[in-house]
Amino acid sequence: MAAPQIAFLGTGNLASAIVRGLLANKVCAPADLAGTSKTGASAQKLAAETGLTFEPDLAKLLGAADTVVVAFKPQSLASADARLADLTRGKLVISVLAGKRLARLAQVFPHARNLVRFLPNTPSAIGAGITGWCAASPLSPADHAIVRSVLDAIGVAVEVAEPHLDAITALGGSGPAFLFEFVAALREGGLAAGLPPDVARRFATETVLGAARLLARSGADPETLRAQVTSPNGTTHAGLQVMAAANFRATMRDTILAATRRAEELAKD
Ligand SMILES: NC(=O)c1ccc[n+]([C@@H]2O[C@H](COP(=O)([O-])OP(=O)(O)OC[C@H]3O[C@@H](n4cnc5c(N)ncnc54)[C@H](OP(=O)(O)O)[C@@H]3O)[C@@H](O)[C@H]2O)c1
Repeated sequence: MAAPQIAFLGTGNLASAIVRGLLANKVCAPADLAGTSKTGASAQKLAAETGLTFEPDLAKLLGAADTVVVAFKPQSLASADARLADLTRGKLVISVLAGKRLARLAQVFPHARNLVRFLPNTPSAIGAGITGWCAASPLSPADHAIVRSVLDAIGVAVEVAEPHLDAITALGGSGPAFLFEFVAALREGGLAAGLPPDVARRFATETVLGAARLLARSGADPETLRAQVTSPNGTTHAGLQVMAAANFRATMRDTILAATRRAEELAKD
């Protein structure tokens, strides 16, 4: 496959992660990538760091592109340049805008050859994200390859039906925040049990990291791995009884449901 010419509208954290991943995976050369941003500041910085072309002229930027990655803030969609409708005619448009559904994107990019919606999460910044995605129409093999290469730049990906993206916003998008809260809670538990702060922090972080790696590498269910650490009447058993009494699972279920409901509300705005 010839390298796709990709234009970025918005060159902040996520666009930067995609650009770096595409270059690291050798999908593209810097000359295949161009971008612009609101003030030009982030685009010029990314250009200096990666060799991508900073092209502030929208017509020139999109004229040379085959694929357009829309990576500005979701609230900027309402004031997006009206020329985008014509300038993206016949192009593959990939949006990473949280909460902006395909039907809404189709109003701004009505002549795109296809529209793809990505819902990534913040570990994408280090290539360790998980992205839920869907396309407006079935992708041609060539477009599928382009989408795959952009997804691979930031981690792993799962294609889902669009209605599932609100729950994925909660589980994948907000999930890292819930995990960070869990790590903070583990750290506080260690402090309460008398550990020095730096030791509690290190053990909380590395335990979550190591357990997550073990879970991913083993392919086993979390319940199976949990059982392997739990001997009858042992320390883990004592701790798990407290988690069960405090309805830990119900709390996490309600957490995901509340975040899903909020994602649904925001997508309607
Ligand atoms: N970061 C993540 O992990 C993550 C996860 C899920 C979804 N997303 C989505 O990714 C998008 C970008 O997030 P981010 O974290 O990368 O944000 P960010 O770092 O704040 O970057 C926003 C970028 O958009 C540019 N911009 C703003 N208005 C624009 C306009 N009208 N035209 C062109 N560029 C414009 C900004 O330009 P200046 O620098 O010149 O101001 C900047 O380059 C958001 O829609 C968000 O929902 C991000």
